[in-house]
Amino acid sequence: MINRRHFTGGAAALGAAASLPLFPRRVQAFSPSILSEPASRIEDGVRIFDFTAQEFASPLAEGKRPTPFWSYVPGLLPLMRVKRGEPLRVRLGNTLNEHTTIHWHGIRVPNAMDGVPFITQKPVYAGDTFTYEFTPPDAGTFFFHPHCNEADQVGRGLAGLLIVTGDETEPFDDDIAVAVKDWRIGEDGKFLPLYTAKGASRAGTFGNIRSVNGVSQYRRNVPAQGFVRVRIANVDPTRIIEVGVEGASAQVIAIDGNAIEPFHLDSWRMGPAMRLDLAIATPKPGQSLRVIDYAQAELYTLAHLTADDRIAPGRREAPRLTPSPIPEPDLAQATAQTYVFGATSGPLENYIESLDPNDPLTAVILDTLCAGPQTFWAINKQSWPNDGHRNLPPPMARLTAGKSYKFTLQNATPHSHPIHLHGHTFKVLSASKRTIPVHYADTVLVTPKERVEIAFVASPGDWMFHCHILEHIETGMMGYFRVA
Ligand code: C2O
Ligand code: CU
Repeated sequence: MINRRHFTGGAAALGAAASLPLFPRRVQAFSPSILSEPASRIEDGVRIFDFTAQEFASPLAEGKRPTPFWSYVPGLLPLMRVKRGEPLRVRLGNTLNEHTTIHWHGIRVPNAMDGVPFITQKPVYAGDTFTYEFTPPDAGTFFFHPHCNEADQVGRGLAGLLIVTGDETEPFDDDIAVAVKDWRIGEDGKFLPLYTAKGASRAGTFGNIRSVNGVSQYRRNVPAQGFVRVRIANVDPTRIIEVGVEGASAQVIAIDGNAIEPFHLDSWRMGPAMRLDLAIATPKPGQSLRVIDYAQAELYTLAHLTADDRIAPGRREAPRLTPSPIPEPDLAQATAQTYVFGATSGPLENYIESLDPNDPLTAVILDTLCAGPQTFWAINKQSWPNDGHRNLPPPMARLTAGKSYKFTLQNATPHSHPIHLHGHTFKVLSASKRTIPVHYADTVLVTPKERVEIAFVASPGDWMFHCHILEHIETGMMGYFRVA
């Protein structure tokens, strides 16, 4: 049975959850400061998870009052581990006061399982359930989140990691998930507004408390002199991080879950929804290394890993990953299209967009305009309407299933946009302002005024295409392709 009650207090949440038959094992270990691995069961060869979008209450940072966060299971940010090729069934219940869905970000699911309300399924209203069923075709590090009222729902915690195993030729000495997400909460523990016009029209509204796996200082012991796999997932609605490692040598082994010929990590920029898998050579016992976000002047340590007395078996090289069976686009035959990410046209919006957000005068100008920085975003001058479900816009393009496409993504704004295409893994061919290796991805960062080329083989369905700064989705930077 799906529990339909709202939990209102930390202790009450624990007590009520403890009586739930669905999560007996994890509830004992429930702490908001760890990624919770939800229980699953196997029936007729299908791995089954029961999720309920619901509210809990627990302090999200030291010294803070309880925050009414949202999650699919008792605990923050569930981490699912499943096997490539193993059929998966996730039953989603909903006890929130608003509708929701689950989108399996980066997983090449059949269109009907893609979790987009009004496009691929009916929304899951309070009290309803929806069953997602698919077999993950690719191994790697993925993530999932709702596709409704996203800045708010994800901002409140509704998201999780999905690790699909089966890509390692031999196991690493440790496997560490690093889920990066800010919280935006006030002194009373309540959420501060997760959408602001000021943020939405610029780089987004940032949280005021940083965290990794739900804690402000994520530390862990690792075996010495071995190779650990660190899976970094940026599940924040807004923040762009720049990842580097100090105190050890690190190689990039997968991007968005897709194995790549390993290369040395200097630093790598990750917008919301992007993932990065690293193989890190751990130091001698007692020494430590840090995974760092260099994006801001004030560095933030994403993970502090200390080598302990466990000595890993002497290996000279990190285990290799086997690549996923992504269809190879035929670049010679590919149809070329260009998509321009910009602000909606309109003299005021254009003017506001031209203002330097770092200039203190900008705030003053915006105030006197009395307009608020209400810029709306667009793709090829088309904005996703605010009431898109009532008046579904036509697809941005009709594509032919099985055919190859080469898209140029052009950023006409002064902000970076992580651009995501549902249901496909595309090949990133080039970026005009950075040197990046050719790689597969489902989300690619397009920096200001940059042009990025991607290519893919279209697969059938209606597939969303949008910026993954969640407030940008809500203010127009989204569309879809119809592939038949
Ligand atoms: Cu994670 Cu429509 O996206
Ligand atoms: Cu954007």
